[in-house]
Amino acid sequence: MSRLVRFHQFGGSDVLTTEDLETSQPDAGEVLVAVHAASVNPVDFKIRSGKYPAVKSDRLPYTLGRDVSGTIEKCGAQATRFKVGDQVFGMVDIHGGGYADRAVVNQKSIAAKPARLDHAHATAIPLAGQTAWQGLFRYGLLKEGQSVLIHGGSGGVGHFAIQFAKAMGAHVLTTVSTDKVKFACELGADVVIDYRTERFEEHVSRVDMVFDLIDGETRERSWDLIKKGGVLVSTLTEPSQKIAEKWGVRAMRYTVEANGNELAGITALVDAGKVRPHVDRTFPLSAAAEALSLVEQGHSAGKVVLVAN
Ligand SMILES: NC(=O)c1ccc[n+]([C@@H]2O[C@H](COP(=O)([O-])OP(=O)(O)OC[C@H]3O[C@@H](n4cnc5c(N)ncnc54)[C@H](OP(=O)(O)O)[C@@H]3O)[C@@H](O)[C@H]2O)c1
Repeated sequence: MSRLVRFHQFGGSDVLTTEDLETSQPDAGEVLVAVHAASVNPVDFKIRSGKYPAVKSDRLPYTLGRDVSGTIEKCGAQATRFKVGDQVFGMVDIHGGGYADRAVVNQKSIAAKPARLDHAHATAIPLAGQTAWQGLFRYGLLKEGQSVLIHGGSGGVGHFAIQFAKAMGAHVLTTVSTDKVKFACELGADVVIDYRTERFEEHVSRVDMVFDLIDGETRERSWDLIKKGGVLVSTLTEPSQKIAEKWGVRAMRYTVEANGNELAGITALVDAGKVRPHVDRTFPLSAAAEALSLVEQGHSAGKVVLVAN
């Protein structure tokens, strides 16, 4: 049997229930993981409230959770990259299932857990870390010596983005709230702007890239800070191509993809001491609703994590 936190109808935090169900079995290319820790992402409350387009009512009941770290209990017939007993971490696909004591994951979406991290810190990485990685390097094509303005540098994605961009040798500017200024400096940002008391436009000369994790007027005020030929990359709404063209920049919105090889690359940075996930708070799996409400408030520093009861 497995313990799962799921919901049968979209709604607020009161729709989550904890249920004991027959354990799902891995298909050929999948593994079954005993989950020691799962992380909480903003996409989870978007899914729970019915506002995430990829999860419609035909997917209900739905078990939340896109990140896991744990021990492999069983391998599918063709899941030969890992063996039973391996400590792994990775991203669960859009079918979810991470808020559980056991989860099925595609072997291509996981990697060996970084040796220097416990499961609570390892599970903080997959979705947020790969979002940061793909936004900066796959879409933003950020290179050593370039500059990037990261809006929302204190959150799950942003705190990885600061560290990855610094590890790449970029000049990093970021916007955070007053009580996160110290945190962003410790992460290595070169210029930290308190968006509550300062107008970021007054502290930024042209940058090669804006990484927009906030949207709205923050984005609108950012266009003319980008060098001609630069790029605006967003995790939120599709940027206007008309405005991008007006400023002579590229602009795009993307959805993160699971990629175990990329996770292994991130692990190398963790092992080298260049990147460290920050866990703001941990909750037991039984308090998943409370953990998700905290993330929904939108003011966490780094990540919120669920640990096995
Ligand atoms: N497209 C994708 O595949 C993808 C993947 C991952 C995430 N996302 C989306 O990207 C967004 C960020 O994700 P996340 O996991 O980093 O969220 P998060 O952990 O909730 O972090 C959000 C951060 O933004 C800060 N913030 C709020 N308003 C701000 C402002 N005006 N300027 C600067 N910072 C501000 C918040 O801290 P303070 O309140 O203290 O400022 C908080 O630290 C979410 O909307 C998420 O759904 C999309």
